[in-house]
Amino acid sequence: MRKPVMAANWKMYKTAAETAVFFEKFLPLVAGSGHCEVLICPPYLSVGAAVDAARGTRVQIGAQNMHSKKEGAFTGEISAPMIRAAGCTHVLVGHSERRQLFGATDQGVSDKAVAALDAGLTPVICVGERVEQRQSGETDAVLAAQFRKGIGPLSEEQFGRILIAYESVWAIGTGLVATPEQAADAHRAIRAQALARYGTDAAAGIRILYGGSVKPDNVKGLMAQPEIDGALVGGASLDPFSFASIVNF
Ligand code: PGA
Repeated sequence: MRKPVMAANWKMYKTAAETAVFFEKFLPLVAGSGHCEVLICPPYLSVGAAVDAARGTRVQIGAQNMHSKKEGAFTGEISAPMIRAAGCTHVLVGHSERRQLFGATDQGVSDKAVAALDAGLTPVICVGERVEQRQSGETDAVLAAQFRKGIGPLSEEQFGRILIAYESVWAIGTGLVATPEQAADAHRAIRAQALARYGTDAAAGIRILYGGSVKPDNVKGLMAQPEIDGALVGGASLDPFSFASIVNF
């Protein structure tokens, strides 16, 4: 009953022209993919090209980050209403690269999630443990803290409008995919947090995507886990054939 979401995070790849070329090849390959939602998150400057190319199709477009304020003297930043006005439906919030490289905090994550929801966007809130945290057995504690501080401030109504992405940070861009069992364990830990904070229905309804080296050859095993409600794909989403075969798992 939870419809899968297959999402692409293009990171800092693809110009507007390259985006148009991608869509020309990609769209015919996913024309029959009614089994899932398809989301593509290009860099800001390629969002317009993506929105144009996806118009009239089921493919949804998202941004990769945002500022929590509507507008203001924040040089270099983009707000949720601007992202919505550009034709996006989603925005990634708290991706591990934002946390590790650009100082994103759990407090900032929850501020951004609320601002995204206020603007009519679906925030895809990313959580996940780093390698040393996994090795020292802290995975569940890390996920619990990220949930409590980054997601827990949302109301129940707001919680019903988000997506969560669990990304084992050690598996991002490394080729080290979490096993389907490791991923499902983490998803269960997150769903347990949702149950404790928001109750049975909310926990049963929340869609949790897995991210970290998802490829055409491992997506099936991951999606066979009932706990896994989709994928957030970096590297393997840049090629239209590769991402289409992930979408059509
Ligand atoms: P990857 O990236 O698929 O290249 O590991 C996933 C992500 O960072 O969202």
